[in-house]
Amino acid sequence: MKRQKKQWKKYLVRAMIGIDVLEIERIKNIADDEKKLKKIFTENEIKYFNNFKNKYEHICGFFCAKEAIIKAVDIESEISFLDIEICHKNNGKPYAKFGTKFNYLNKKNIDFSISHSKTIATAICLII
Ligand SMILES: CC(C)(COP(=O)(O)OP(=O)(O)OC[C@H]1O[C@@H](n2cnc3c(N)ncnc32)[C@H](O)[C@@H]1OP(=O)(O)O)[C@@H](O)C(=O)NCCC(=O)NCCS
Repeated sequence: MKRQKKQWKKYLVRAMIGIDVLEIERIKNIADDEKKLKKIFTENEIKYFNNFKNKYEHICGFFCAKEAIIKAVDIESEISFLDIEICHKNNGKPYAKFGTKFNYLNKKNIDFSISHSKTIATAICLII
């Protein structure tokens, strides 16, 4: 029995998941305050938002993505918003880059998805 348990253990993979949802209205007080915005988003991310007329949707989506990633990684890990940079592949699919002390996460299989409507944004993250 003990041997069976040990054998089974090596096939177990711990997947981690995180999710977040937020009303776009609630992100506006951050989005319209440059100081607050820079505490959460990198320069590249802010450049990305400025490409859009409806930038609040994208800001809210990125915020949800970072929250979902933090939840999936572990909320007690002390990872913060600026340790995560949301980027896009050529086809528009988002991915995350991790800086400095969370560099090791760049080697992990971290996938997430963002969606936004006029009123809410949401994101979900899966780590395998
Ligand atoms: C990509 C697509 C699924 C987005 O769906 P949507 O209903 O328009 O918009 P949603 O609010 O649900 O999602 C928007 C988010 O989808 C994500 N996204 C964009 N392209 C993506 C892709 N290829 N794969 C996965 N996610 C994608 C982005 O994170 C985007 O938000 P962001 O720009 O703020 O980061 C849709 O536009 C589509 O099917 N497009 C066809 C492919 C296409 O035109 N690609 C354009 C780049 S060449």
